[in-house]
Amino acid sequence: MGPAVTAPRSDALVFFGATGDLAYKKVFPALQSLVARGLLDGPIVGVSRGGWTLERLRERARESVEANGGADPVALPRLLAQLGYVEGDYGSPGTFSALRRELGNAERPLHYMAIPQDMFEVVVRGIAESGCGRGARLVLEKPFGRDLASARRLSEALHLQFKEQDVFRIDHYLGKEAVQNLVYFRFANTFLEPIWNRRYVESVQITFAERIGIEGRGAFYDRAGAIRDVVQNHVLQVISNVGMEPPPGSHDTETLRDEKVKVLKAMAPPDPAQVVRGQYDGYLGEKGVERGSTTETFAAMELAVNTWRWEGVPFYLRAGKRLAQNRTEVIARLRRPPPVTGVGFAPNLVRFRLGPEFVIGLAANVREPGGDPHELELIAAHDHDGADPNPYAELLGDALRGETYRFARQDYVEEAWRILDPVVADGGRPAPYEPGSWGPERSEQLVPGGWVEPPPFKNGAAR
Ligand code: BG6
Repeated sequence: MGPAVTAPRSDALVFFGATGDLAYKKVFPALQSLVARGLLDGPIVGVSRGGWTLERLRERARESVEANGGADPVALPRLLAQLGYVEGDYGSPGTFSALRRELGNAERPLHYMAIPQDMFEVVVRGIAESGCGRGARLVLEKPFGRDLASARRLSEALHLQFKEQDVFRIDHYLGKEAVQNLVYFRFANTFLEPIWNRRYVESVQITFAERIGIEGRGAFYDRAGAIRDVVQNHVLQVISNVGMEPPPGSHDTETLRDEKVKVLKAMAPPDPAQVVRGQYDGYLGEKGVERGSTTETFAAMELAVNTWRWEGVPFYLRAGKRLAQNRTEVIARLRRPPPVTGVGFAPNLVRFRLGPEFVIGLAANVREPGGDPHELELIAAHDHDGADPNPYAELLGDALRGETYRFARQDYVEEAWRILDPVVADGGRPAPYEPGSWGPERSEQLVPGGWVEPPPFKNGAAR
């Protein structure tokens, strides 16, 4: 489901940070896939300060695709042939004049910043001053600031050189099949819409649980924490998809993003009493983490979406590292039916599991012949093992075509910070929790009736 676009296609791709980790894990496999699909046939130029050669970059590209999904015998040689390399300091004009030469006749390059945020400004200036910015698009990786004020400063600096419609802010969750399927399922099915509101939904829970810890990213993570790292972006994007109104049926590519930002505009910062911050035991011993750090590796909170549809429906969310399971999941708990002849019923649930597999579940009260009444979850699951096509290939493909709807718009980023600024400003000591648990004890008390623990769907087994 996506709006029609008529913008001209970018005719070259430049990626800054070519020798880095993100390029290795995500970008090269995405580039191979774009070349395979015929979406990228112009120059592909890697830029880095790494002191590499083109040959070494080609070798890295080969290793990267082999380690991340496999080499395509047709597309990989084409990618390697299209690949160019510019090496130099991001602050030096020489780097950018070399880049302009490397771009040859290309007139509409797409510049992808796979580099730390504090380099964005200087690189954008270099792009603009060298003439590499004409007809260009800019793709950025989160984080977009670390609070509302810094997000605004960054945006002002970008907007000196690029128009908002040419800036593509990646939230890789928006490139995920399952996240798009949620929106599709909501709007493509008549039976869901009549109940998808405050009259039928009693509360919504969102779980973003990861088994992994910070995986050697201590220096980055310790300055971020769970709220900046995943709640401000991925989790709020999921809430917007759950809560938004259907976009009007026009071909204006911005209508979907307009609807999503309206959800955030209807949200106030959470009540501090309804926020739980946690830190897993052992975090303080991780490499790159400051002594006595109060960074949270877990956050849970209650939010409200004050729209006509959702007034009075609490949205509970929790996100964290080193938790019991790997799950991203949305659960709408419906209002209980009234008891009949003194017999009460469990609330029905609507479940969207967004990862690692895509599952839609409907928990109902049933009675089987001769058996006791019980709850049964009707499951629709994709029968693949949860493999997601590389969201980076999807998103870079959109950016090359000028399709903006799966990227975070600046007003959205600012609304997200407005909601969470008071929470990220809290430097208080987080509650400890055991790795492999569901976070601090207090998170359990946040939700009346408790968090619905995810049943194991893997291998087709529902409960
Ligand atoms: C990233 C965060 O944006 O998303 C990571 O920085 C997190 O900390 C990751 O692990 C989760 O994404 P995915 O695609 O693995 O669910």
